[in-house]
Amino acid sequence: MSALLEVREVSHRFGGLHVLKGVSFTVEAGSVTGLIGPNGAGKSTLFNIISGFLTPSVGRIVLLGEDATRLGIQHRSRMGLQRTFQTPQVFRDLTVRENLVAGCHRHGRTGVLEAFLGLPQVRREMRDAAIVADAAIERFDLGPYRDVPAGELPAGRQRMVELARAVVAEPKLLCLDEPSSGLSTAEVQILMQVLRRLNEEGMTILLVSHDMELMEITSKMHALCFGEIIASGSLDAMRASPRVREAYLGT
Ligand SMILES: Nc1ncnc2c1ncn2[C@@H]1O[C@H](COP(=O)(O)OP(=O)(O)OP(=O)(O)O)[C@@H](O)[C@H]1O
Ligand SMILES: [Mg+2]
Repeated sequence: MSALLEVREVSHRFGGLHVLKGVSFTVEAGSVTGLIGPNGAGKSTLFNIISGFLTPSVGRIVLLGEDATRLGIQHRSRMGLQRTFQTPQVFRDLTVRENLVAGCHRHGRTGVLEAFLGLPQVRREMRDAAIVADAAIERFDLGPYRDVPAGELPAGRQRMVELARAVVAEPKLLCLDEPSSGLSTAEVQILMQVLRRLNEEGMTILLVSHDMELMEITSKMHALCFGEIIASGSLDAMRASPRVREAYLGT
């Protein structure tokens, strides 16, 4: 396996607060890699740095072998990186289906002028996006909500819409920040099935979560505590690690 993502010696400060301190790890192509850590460990900050919402004070982000540290969010998206947020971000006024059609946009080859002229290529892309969106509605069990504005859905369903929107862009690397938070037990089961299936189909996944049940789908995990990786290994190794137990339980 080769590294799809390399986080190299990343440090970050918010003013005087040293949030990340020389974090390094890799996400291998084809893996589901987990990142755990107590509240405030720096997980979401690291996600923001990986996806381009923040530039690290020090260090490098290497995406598909290319130094992406200073590349913008859109550029990384076109390279094949999609992410979701700890608080789900959906287009609240658009229906579920419209959210998913919008998510297909990364594949669009045509621009504003072509759209204005209504060229056949544009009509074809719109039709393809609608087909992909409808398939995602089935897959993510969103049928009953298809024509409902996403902002009106319960939190768990909004999370599914956000995930589906990231998936229809067919990312090579899908980064999920606490995807099971706010989901019912049944929804978590669906989420795990969907993520397993996406991974079998070749999608690489980086997963931040406190949910150890969800972490069963990971092949390797890293534990972050006060901005430093304190342990790496399998889920069982994490559970057995005195450092991880101490970070979580304070014992
Ligand atoms: N924009 C910001 N400005 C200042 N401090 C910030 C900012 N964002 C995060 N922090 C601080 O950085 C630290 C790490 O926050 P971060 O959100 O990355 O942690 P986390 O591991 O994702 O935590 P949680 O499990 O609660 O989501 C916290 O102390 C937080 O208060
Ligand atoms: Mg967080």
